[in-house]
Amino acid sequence: MKITKAVIPAAGLGTRFLPATKAVPKEMLPIVDTPTLQYIIEEAANSGIEDILIITGRGKRAIEDHFDKSYELENELARAGKEELLPRLEYISSLANIHYVRQKQALGLGHAIHCAKSFVGQEPFAILLGDDVVRAEKPCLRQMIDVYDRYGASVLGVQEVPDADVSKYGIVDAEYIEENVHRVMDMVEKPSFIEAPSNIAVLGRYIITPEIFTILEKTKPGAGGEIQLTDALRELAKEQPMYCYTFEGKRYDVGSKIGFLKATVEYALAREDIGASFLEYLRKTVEDFGA
Ligand code: UTP
Repeated sequence: MKITKAVIPAAGLGTRFLPATKAVPKEMLPIVDTPTLQYIIEEAANSGIEDILIITGRGKRAIEDHFDKSYELENELARAGKEELLPRLEYISSLANIHYVRQKQALGLGHAIHCAKSFVGQEPFAILLGDDVVRAEKPCLRQMIDVYDRYGASVLGVQEVPDADVSKYGIVDAEYIEENVHRVMDMVEKPSFIEAPSNIAVLGRYIITPEIFTILEKTKPGAGGEIQLTDALRELAKEQPMYCYTFEGKRYDVGSKIGFLKATVEYALAREDIGASFLEYLRKTVEDFGA
């Protein structure tokens, strides 16, 4: 079955980024001049996704405004003779059909995904976390859809992480199938280094079969008192085959301060308009700091 629907959970509280996230959703913080969430929606659209459901919550209205058409601003720009800016604005509202649902309480990622049940129906669907961006030549989700097309089963996007970082992620116990593809035997959310079955971490991209919703209905709060998607995926992997795919590309956790800074620097360096002058500035700054 073709993957045409994606869910982007963006209802988390963003506590790691306070005070910035008190009034501004973390998904709207800009990397250079573009909100994080726009990069994620571009990845989905460039992977063939037609319909996107964003799970929002209180204080997240800026998200809806950003992806809506903005008649007032467009008229103002046209009146001020700044027509050259219009295509960039029109492009934003034309990326995909975007739908919204509110998660009334931030009870965990598993709970957020359950809010997508009626949107998804009986189809396999994609999940892209609202604070994970991946810079890749071929969009990360497209790479994963290609794997889904070969195996016809759930696929988790993974990469190996340093031993010291396993306790930050969902970690899989996996069996080698072919280059970059493993079968998921089991998984555990944020294990200690001793408990971790591997250092293969799930990094914000998933393709999941719709049976996950029946499981989520029964999933009890787990690590951190939250309803964990990992716990539900674990059950799903017992019922049907599940694979993980080591995607090509660099992933940034922009919900953390250091991840956000790395993304900002590297996206800026890759930009045609400002990359060269920013590199010159960085070189000089590093010298000045005596590093
Ligand atoms: P995170 O744990 O990274 O987000 O969840 P958070 O809870 O906002 O972050 P901190 O730890 O407080 O800084 C991963 C993704 O799941 C979403 C978040 O918005 C993020 O995109 N999420 C998390 C929800 O939509 N609802 C929840 O109840 C929890």
